[in-house]
Amino acid sequence: MNKKRVAIFASGTGSNAINLIGYFKEHKAIEIGFILSNKKDALVLESAKKLDVQTLFFSNSEVSKGHFLIELCKTHHIDYVVLAGYLRLIPEGFIDVFSEKIINLHPSLLPNYGGKGMYGSNVHKAVIENREKESGISIHYVNQKFDEGRIIAQFKCPIYSTDTVKDLEDKIRSLEQSYLPVVVEKTIMEIV
Ligand code: GRF
Repeated sequence: MNKKRVAIFASGTGSNAINLIGYFKEHKAIEIGFILSNKKDALVLESAKKLDVQTLFFSNSEVSKGHFLIELCKTHHIDYVVLAGYLRLIPEGFIDVFSEKIINLHPSLLPNYGGKGMYGSNVHKAVIENREKESGISIHYVNQKFDEGRIIAQFKCPIYSTDTVKDLEDKIRSLEQSYLPVVVEKTIMEIV
């Protein structure tokens, strides 16, 4: 059986991308095809190279063209795409072809704290400022609207009145590390 091939798009540190690489290293049915970044000096590219995973850098003008990403993924026989800290809108043409094949990780309980500008610590600041009692992560399919695609899974953490933005960030990172790989695996194996 051919393994399902996953491309990971990431713009930053890449702790989630690296975690996915480790999780699927010896997997019997899923493998990582490449890591794509739109930032030339993104730490994720350096870390992935060390793990012998193919890395690709493309400028924002290239990745904003749907047909470019379609061709790229076809050439590399990619079945699924995971957006792990990828800070760019995915072009519609690409979403149409990869419908329900692009999975995004978002650091809040969508539909709350999603949409334009809601990424990284912006999300956690807003959650803490609003004195929310809980937050969490959402793993969802990508559609034409930012953070509005069908939700695959969500995981929660409590927020205490003494929690700082950094405390919340740590809790969210820990949820991401625990759950993203297994949800991606179950989604691809179609048992979610
Ligand atoms: C994560 O918090 C993820 O939820 C969000 O961007 C962050 C990426 O972190 N989409 P990293 O680059 O994987 O360390």
